[in-house]
Amino acid sequence: MSRLQKRDSWGSRLGIIMAVAGSAVGLGNFLRFPSKAASNGGGAFMIPYFVALVLLGIPLMWIEWTLGRYGGGFEHGTAPGIFHSIWQKNRFIKYFGVIGIFGPLVILVYYTYIESWTLAYSFFALFGKYSSLTDQASMQSFLSGFQGLEKNQYFNGIGVAYTFFLVTFALNVWVIYYGIKGGIEKLCKIAMPLLFIFGIFLMVRVLTLGTPDPAKPTWNIVNGLGFLWNPDFSALKSAKVWLEAAGQIFFTLSVGIGVILTYASYLSKGDDVVLSGLTASSTNELAEVILGASIIIPAAFVFFGPVDIKAIAGSGVFNLGFVTMPLILNKLPLAPFFGFAWFFLLFLAGITSAVSLSQPAVAFLEDEFDINRKKAVSIFAVVTFILCQPAIFFLGRGVVDELDFWGGTFFLVLFATIETILFAWVFGMEKAWDEIHKGADMRIPGIYKFIIKYVTPLFLFVILGAWFWQEWLPKIFMTNVSSQDKVFILGTRIGLGLVFVTLALLVKIAWSKRKKRGAK
Ligand code: ALA
Repeated sequence: MSRLQKRDSWGSRLGIIMAVAGSAVGLGNFLRFPSKAASNGGGAFMIPYFVALVLLGIPLMWIEWTLGRYGGGFEHGTAPGIFHSIWQKNRFIKYFGVIGIFGPLVILVYYTYIESWTLAYSFFALFGKYSSLTDQASMQSFLSGFQGLEKNQYFNGIGVAYTFFLVTFALNVWVIYYGIKGGIEKLCKIAMPLLFIFGIFLMVRVLTLGTPDPAKPTWNIVNGLGFLWNPDFSALKSAKVWLEAAGQIFFTLSVGIGVILTYASYLSKGDDVVLSGLTASSTNELAEVILGASIIIPAAFVFFGPVDIKAIAGSGVFNLGFVTMPLILNKLPLAPFFGFAWFFLLFLAGITSAVSLSQPAVAFLEDEFDINRKKAVSIFAVVTFILCQPAIFFLGRGVVDELDFWGGTFFLVLFATIETILFAWVFGMEKAWDEIHKGADMRIPGIYKFIIKYVTPLFLFVILGAWFWQEWLPKIFMTNVSSQDKVFILGTRIGLGLVFVTLALLVKIAWSKRKKRGAK
């Protein structure tokens, strides 16, 4: 088969590690993690979280790096082609791979909007736009006004938010337009160290808060850390805590999404994946359990106490980050500066993840239709721009939550299950083990052969089963959706179905073309 376009590649090993870490370290680390940990009782969350990291997160990271590098050898950068390379005899497996393009696209359409809020709030902090607000209700109203959910004294429409969305969208597209080495790698090499500097800086500030209110001596920083780190073994019996912890591991490491497959497809055959995968995962965990855990939660604890923190976190994933945190930072000297550090940290975390969520769709167009990057990025930009609109205009109708359930939760676990079975059972564990270790700088402990073959798939099946029981049926029948919102949720589902079918058709067309060219 002859291709006109040469595939892109990484410039250096540090570059791909930074890029995968950049994909992993995102809003999930600084917003989703604290909110999940706090609403699940802090210490109760951390044991299932670490078990899921060891039995699901790390094995999947290795599986995806290896599958991606393997598929890249056949000039495939996305799951349809990669799955097909693994199981050429099966005509249908490439359609399962559609999830690896669909999933990141679904996450991207709401992620970009949230990313744009972080950019907007960086400016608001710097220019003191919310500096006079001192209570939860007014900060909440500021956020709702900004999101266009209500007209109030702070905002009289969605215009400001939309402008920031346009700027953010353009920035994301600009980065991917310059490709793997010239865009994504360059961005991550600058953004990641900067993100860590901001993170460490905020962490030190929070850890030196002491006991801000002498009338409440137990609301101190040590107890704030204890809220997360004192283990609570009784919670191990709760299926919900296990499920939420596993879901967080997927989201935070960017596994089960499809993005790592794509990034790894730009590696060469002899490049190490074992140590690189582990380094990227460790960097993410450092950002999550050290920085992510030491900023919002202890800060909210010392100002609001253990009871309120659970309630705030439970009331919505954005409340801790966009309401509680700016309120707390407002109380400190140099508030505009700390506010900016917080929101710009989120923006850096967001943009390095958003570009990774964009790349599978772009790589699919480039690899399977042999079109050049600039054209692929232009098609991608037009389509995603349209797809982003419902998340912006129907935010208050539950559209973002719906997209997050399918793209950020359900398909992620399903995709991870398919990948693991393909890797360990279809490709075969012996061959898989050799493939992982090609060019490896270290050997994986032998126990992981057993874990990848049996424990990871079993764990995934249990999660899928438990979710089916607990969440899917009420979800599918929209039991908890208000009657006015049902039409929006239904519309979202129809839209998602159409996107999926379109992608599947594109796969069909690409493979018919390949057949005509005589490729396998
Ligand atoms: N892994 C990315 C995050 O944590 C998607 O936000």
